[in-house]
Amino acid sequence: MRKQIAAANWKMNLTAQQGEQLLNDILSAEHTLNVNRIAVFAVPFPYLAMAQQQLAGWEHMYVSAQNCYSKKSGAYTGEVSVEMLQSLGIKYVVLGHSERREYFNESNQFLADKLNICLEYNIAPIFCCGEPLEIREAGSQNDFVGRQLKESLYHLSAEQLKNVIIAYEPIWAIGTGKTASSEQAQEMHAFIRAALAAQYGNDVAEEITILYGGSVKAGNAAELFSQPDVDGGLVGGASLVAAEFNAIIDAL
Ligand code: G3H
Repeated sequence: MRKQIAAANWKMNLTAQQGEQLLNDILSAEHTLNVNRIAVFAVPFPYLAMAQQQLAGWEHMYVSAQNCYSKKSGAYTGEVSVEMLQSLGIKYVVLGHSERREYFNESNQFLADKLNICLEYNIAPIFCCGEPLEIREAGSQNDFVGRQLKESLYHLSAEQLKNVIIAYEPIWAIGTGKTASSEQAQEMHAFIRAALAAQYGNDVAEEITILYGGSVKAGNAAELFSQPDVDGGLVGGASLVAAEFNAIIDAL
């Protein structure tokens, strides 16, 4: 069975105190999680240690970083290495979010390097892909996403790929309130799984968790997650509100 994941991406939001309160509000609700139904919290770097402490002792809930650098260590002022993340016990890192691709010029090749180092340190990458509006309007989304997969992932072995989580996030649906319909999400997730199957075989592709991201909220999560190839969500805005994210976790 594939892992189903409700992943919160706080992005560059919340003070430390607000973040602590939000996690407490989420932890104080009853959730029926298990080894294959988990919640992940991608918090800003300064809050990683705090979040790790808060989640200590809670099963099936994990802290994630929102980014990392591609080098092991050295003179890279302001960057954060996977070794640092590993030393805090962090198990997940979001890579290639469209905001990083757009504002920080992260390329598919650069992301391939980041994926390599994460896998070397046993940190599971949540690899984001997805097309901008003009590509969707031109009907070229499969080519665009296919290329992202090819250039960042296909050098990995099947064993390595099994540790990667994919998040499909159509850029036109991020923070816009415009969710992809559950049919559009399913269609792209099925395309991604078929592309992985063509490269790695069906058995491997069936094991890969593919999350949907883009205006997921309490009101649409169950419908999106009920699609056969949608294995949960990567959630921005709604993950900042305890009641919303609690409902999203429960929709898994
Ligand atoms: O990482 C999360 C995605 O960018 C989605 O953000 O839920 O605010 O649309 P959103």
